[in-house]
Amino acid sequence: MSKVAIIGSGFIGRAWAISFARGGHDVVLWDEDPQAPEKAIAYVRGLLPDLEANDLLNGAAADALAARLQPARTLEEALDGAVHVQENTPEDVGIKRKVFARLDAAAPPGAVLASSTSALLPSAFTELLPGRARCLVVHPINPPYLVPAAEVVPAPWTDPAVVEQVASFLRAIGHTPILMKREIDGFVMNRLQGALLEEAFRLVADGYASIEDVDVGIRDGLALRWSFMGPFETIDLNAPGGVRDYVERYQGLYAGLFPSMQRRVDWAGPVIDEIEADRRRRLAADKLGERQAWRDRRLMALAAHKRKADTDIGR
Ligand SMILES: NC(=O)c1ccc[n+]([C@@H]2O[C@H](COP(=O)([O-])OP(=O)(O)OC[C@H]3O[C@@H](n4cnc5c(N)ncnc54)[C@H](O)[C@@H]3O)[C@@H](O)[C@H]2O)c1
Repeated sequence: MSKVAIIGSGFIGRAWAISFARGGHDVVLWDEDPQAPEKAIAYVRGLLPDLEANDLLNGAAADALAARLQPARTLEEALDGAVHVQENTPEDVGIKRKVFARLDAAAPPGAVLASSTSALLPSAFTELLPGRARCLVVHPINPPYLVPAAEVVPAPWTDPAVVEQVASFLRAIGHTPILMKREIDGFVMNRLQGALLEEAFRLVADGYASIEDVDVGIRDGLALRWSFMGPFETIDLNAPGGVRDYVERYQGLYAGLFPSMQRRVDWAGPVIDEIEADRRRRLAADKLGERQAWRDRRLMALAAHKRKADTDIGR
């Protein structure tokens, strides 16, 4: 068991805290807002019984896990003795630069400094730091305690040994790191999601399919397989001779589609009126919070199912 420091204890900081504590670590939370760490811990306490009921606490009791979370009064107190520092301050390069300078100055020499940034490249806020070799991005999908994949993104100067150290650290707590070889905007997952969203907007804007039918195509179609295997494994299993056979049979089909996919539809143009009207007919604006809670319960049930199926059927 070692100590993890959470810097910025909002939405993502508090969610990471569950992952790290569930992995057996002592977690200390700090935030510029002195109330935030206590609030984050109270929020986590509220969630733990549901996670325990779904067997998502690695066998730990909710109370024992909550006891691993402590607020820190100062940044220095949070960093003292930490082996891993997870930064979760607002998505603003100026803030990240300032916070990373403070982290690099105060964290123990062996500590890894990881940012949760969704879209900033690690090179944008670590270049001038003396300890830049220990800095990188570890980007989670929300909420990390239910979604194992996390993108590990090195800057050009990140020490490969640090990448390896972070990968082992994440694996040991049940995460599945995506080890990027070098940084690029959108990392892996937002680039994949962006490609899908571009096509979804185009299909609706050009009048080929309804909003609901695009959602059905994923929800009741492709995502059933995608919830336990990726696109490459999918095509490997979708032709009798495997992935090369798939490419020989079907590349022509996709190559034929490609030219019609090279045009952007403005997401904020007329299509958003149609999408919003359809969504609000199906879900009133004042029910969004309720539906988000429903989504989180479904995600919890899926995470529990995936864990069980990994054991019972195999990964
Ligand atoms: N929300 C998501 O779904 C999501 C998913 C993945 C990654 N992220 C990334 O995580 C980071 C945090 O996002 P969030 O959604 O948790 O935001 P948030 O607003 O919920 O939390 C940010 C916290 O940082 C604190 N803060 C502000 N300035 C600070 C400073 N200088 N030092 C210390 N603390 C400071 C705030 O008080 C707040 O508690 C962002 O980089 C975001 O891109 C968010």
